[in-house]
Amino acid sequence: MSAMRTDERYNDRVVRQFTVMTVVWGIVGMLVGVLIAAQLYWPQLGEGIPWLSYGRLRPLHTNAVIFAFGGCALMATSLYVVQRTSHVRLFSDRLAAFVFWGWQAVIVSAAITLPLGYTQGKEYAELEWPIDILITLVWVAYAVVFFGTLAKRRVSHIYVANWFYASFIVAVALLHIVNNLSLPVGWLKSYSVYTGAVDAMAQWWYGHNAVGFFLTAGFLGMMYYFVPKQAQRPVYSYRLSIVHFWALIAIYMWAGPHHLQYTALPDWAQSLGMVFSLILLAPSWGGAINGVMTLSGAWHKLRTDPIIKFLIVAVSFYMIATFEGPMMSIKTVNSLSHYTDWTVGHVHAGALGWVAMISLGSVYAMWPRLLGQGQMWSTKLIDAHFWVHTIGVVFYIASMWIAGVMQGLMWRATNNDGTLSYSFVESLAATYPYYLIRLLGGLLVLGGMGLMAWNVWQTWRLTRTTEDALVMPPATAH
Ligand code: HEM
Ligand code: HEM
Repeated sequence: MSAMRTDERYNDRVVRQFTVMTVVWGIVGMLVGVLIAAQLYWPQLGEGIPWLSYGRLRPLHTNAVIFAFGGCALMATSLYVVQRTSHVRLFSDRLAAFVFWGWQAVIVSAAITLPLGYTQGKEYAELEWPIDILITLVWVAYAVVFFGTLAKRRVSHIYVANWFYASFIVAVALLHIVNNLSLPVGWLKSYSVYTGAVDAMAQWWYGHNAVGFFLTAGFLGMMYYFVPKQAQRPVYSYRLSIVHFWALIAIYMWAGPHHLQYTALPDWAQSLGMVFSLILLAPSWGGAINGVMTLSGAWHKLRTDPIIKFLIVAVSFYMIATFEGPMMSIKTVNSLSHYTDWTVGHVHAGALGWVAMISLGSVYAMWPRLLGQGQMWSTKLIDAHFWVHTIGVVFYIASMWIAGVMQGLMWRATNNDGTLSYSFVESLAATYPYYLIRLLGGLLVLGGMGLMAWNVWQTWRLTRTTEDALVMPPATAH
């Protein structure tokens, strides 16, 4: 194929690779989630085998679902969207291939070192320094591919989805480098350059912005591309999307201290975190309303198109999580919710409801197009997936909400003489039934992923050619 001929087509190969790995890592990460959910119900599971212990599998779960599943979904969709909205092929095929293989190498290194117990001990930043350096290299290559493609675009404006992806790429680079600054004392051991409360603040500045930029901004990029595309309607308000973008990225950066209420962090910083978290409700809901209202005039599609159902229910869960988050940041509410399963319920309303559902909907929308086909092998199977997933998520978050509030109330209940009404073990015993319901919810979600894998595989099998799609001339733009 001559260079000119290649340039006439998108680089869909790397998008297909990332899409397949989204499904694979989704299954792996959620399987580990189910395993640790089972361990909380049957603590003796894996007893005596260090690499199967809860403390090692939990970070394996969070890394696999956030960085492997979520990361592959973000890379697949961002590289798909930036090409189609810029009307050009990716900036560099070689670098794109390096991003794919490099990111898989990061994931495999994490999957080996975490069960072996190597960790920096910082939540969501557990990986040791050699892997951190590899992440940095891959990320720089990813940024060059993404921004290089934007730079050679054949249309003058930059579609708003790309703004969100761009902020995700820039912010994650910043967060990763600042929070992982450390002094190595061996190949798999290092100490953070920060100490005490400063270390805690750096960690949760990172942690909260990992939520804001890794688990939110990029997925909003998906919302802004795939909701209008699937509904075949323009974004409800382009002006709102710009306000949404700037307000969201400006406010997120300041909310981190809400993870450290009632700690050694100065009181003013805790209050600052709370105030910015409350303000964050406005851009979050503004953006979500923009996504949902894009469907106005086409609501009937919710009945017939399960991909739209995935996307719109995802945005609804986003609204739930971003209403609940600001409430939990209020100090008096946090004094009840912190350390309880309420936080875990909130996390999975965002993670399973928002992040997973918007990704799954986007994959279903993208996959047939990447194979030159009109639609997935089975629409009924997508619908079935939608229902088992949604029911699974509801089981998960409802059980954790109830368990969390119950735990908080039991821990603070006192008798007339000032002694505690319940021992910790009593609160644990009361939680068991809810852990079983959560496990059931997790199994449903995992089962749904099995349906997806089957559907993705069958759609692939029917494909006669994997020739990449032709670059659309700007005049016929979306
Ligand atoms: C089958 C689906 C899933 C199951 C059964 C599951 C289960 C669990 C369990 C049992 C925990 C530990 C809770 C604790 O320590 O008390 C956990 C933590 C976590 N999971 Fe999942 N999970 C699933 C999917 C996901 C997905 C898709 C994501 C992200 C996209 C995710 C993100 C997280 C995070 C961030 C935490 C840490 C929460 C915290 O520290 O408060 N999970 N999960
Ligand atoms: C306006 C938006 C949001 C605000 C203000 C917010 C606020 C909060 C608060 C107050 C906590 C509890 C901190 C604690 O007591 O330890 C929390 C935990 C958490 N939230 Fe949110 N949240 C928001 C949206 C989201 C979304 C959309 C997601 C997921 C996609 C998410 C993921 C998490 C995670 C992973 C944690 C647990 C962190 C940990 O302790 O490991 N949040 N959030």
